Amino acid sequence: MPSPLSTLRRLWPLALLAVAAPSAHAESAGEGAAYVVLGAGGTPQARLVVAADACPSIMIDGRKRPMHVRARAATLPLRPTASTPENSKPSVFPLLTCEAAVPRGARRAAVQGRPLPLPPRRIDRIVVIGDTGCRIKASDAAFQACNDPARYPFAAVAARAAAWKPDLVLHVGDYLYRENPCPADQPGCAGSPWGYGWDAWRADFFAPAAPLLAAAPWVVVRGNHENCARAGQGWRRLLAPGPLRPADDCVDPARDAAGDYTAPYAVPLGGGAQVVVTDLAIAGAKPTLPDDPRYAQFEHAYARLDALSRRARFTFAADHRPILGLAATADKHGGVKLHGGTPGIASVFAAGGRPLLPPKVDVLLAGHVHVWEQVSFSSDHPSQFIAGFSGTQEDTVPLPETPPADAAPAPGAVIEHFSSWVDGFGYMTLERAGERRWRVTVWDVAGRPVNHCSIVGRRSSCEVRQPRSQPPGG
Ligand SMILES: [Fe+2]
Repeated sequence: MPSPLSTLRRLWPLALLAVAAPSAHAESAGEGAAYVVLGAGGTPQARLVVAADACPSIMIDGRKRPMHVRARAATLPLRPTASTPENSKPSVFPLLTCEAAVPRGARRAAVQGRPLPLPPRRIDRIVVIGDTGCRIKASDAAFQACNDPARYPFAAVAARAAAWKPDLVLHVGDYLYRENPCPADQPGCAGSPWGYGWDAWRADFFAPAAPLLAAAPWVVVRGNHENCARAGQGWRRLLAPGPLRPADDCVDPARDAAGDYTAPYAVPLGGGAQVVVTDLAIAGAKPTLPDDPRYAQFEHAYARLDALSRRARFTFAADHRPILGLAATADKHGGVKLHGGTPGIASVFAAGGRPLLPPKVDVLLAGHVHVWEQVSFSSDHPSQFIAGFSGTQEDTVPLPETPPADAAPAPGAVIEHFSSWVDGFGYMTLERAGERRWRVTVWDVAGRPVNHCSIVGRRSSCEVRQPRSQPPGG
């Protein structure tokens, strides 16, 4: 017999759809959202984005508690962005953002009569998605067909992933891609909002993600699209788990060095496992030099990741950029060039000859490369999974079935197992299979499994090296 909580969990997506129905008010401000992000120690933080002047109360286990104002409605002044001035504008956030910490172990929470998903004591089922926005970027002449669900399928991915009934959702970063106006000659994205304000956040993330936001609490990793010079203001205001502070809210560009970094934190999964979230999205493709302010931040991140990973028997380390993955680009002559790792991170993490990753880190979870990928090593390195395949225009340059020996993503890293799925949209799931063991399934947009893998400690392997995409409905 289903518990009242599980019944509420099942009905909650319907409730959200009901409140998300168009209304007169929605025309001007866009509908709000209600969701839960997990912060340091796994503390659930309830968030509500709402057209109101004051925050409503939240019901936690039958007791009324206040929600606090996280951010008032505001138009943030135009700041330098990653785009040209004519492709930039002030970020408008017309709704109030409210927040409330929910005590770990609380069983039920609701806002305005709408149940919020809380984590179970032990988290055994995790959805991993990444790179979910619809790419509209003038400098790359990249205009994804946001209006075509086949070419921008994040809503379908989110609905399928929600139907899998996860205990937790992990987003590995890059939420907002609608940075510039859709040109008049591009009907595929016609009418899309753009920039870094609420309308773009809603179209690119909160509306398509609604069923999945209703299904489970989220761990949110920041992507480089959420750097201060891009969608950082919305990241800080809406998603980042810590407090919203002027010191790092990405509003004043003079404070970007602080705004672009967050200290690592651990989210316990129960049973001795955890996810440690790191914010290294600001790293570049070139090595970070010691006089760069990011150098000290990444040193801090390594020390913290090392310390946190020693507190659990199994650690997933989640960051946006793959530290041990491979990416492929086409060269001028039509050949394929492989790129390994992220030099901006590795140059600091491996400084002085120490191990690239702390010894108690078992599996790296990342996005950024718009494919699905798995790498396991015979050398003493953690496995790497990449889940940057959940909505954003895919990378289509093929990866090799077996990477050449000189394609190591880091010095001394010897690839033992490599699996990749290029040009296929979907999501990945992790199911606990025992002590330091997890089952991985890769799913397509239609909810069909395309690959199965297993994780045992630092090692992983998959059934298929290069799955083939099935035709829609086939
Ligand atoms: Fe990225």
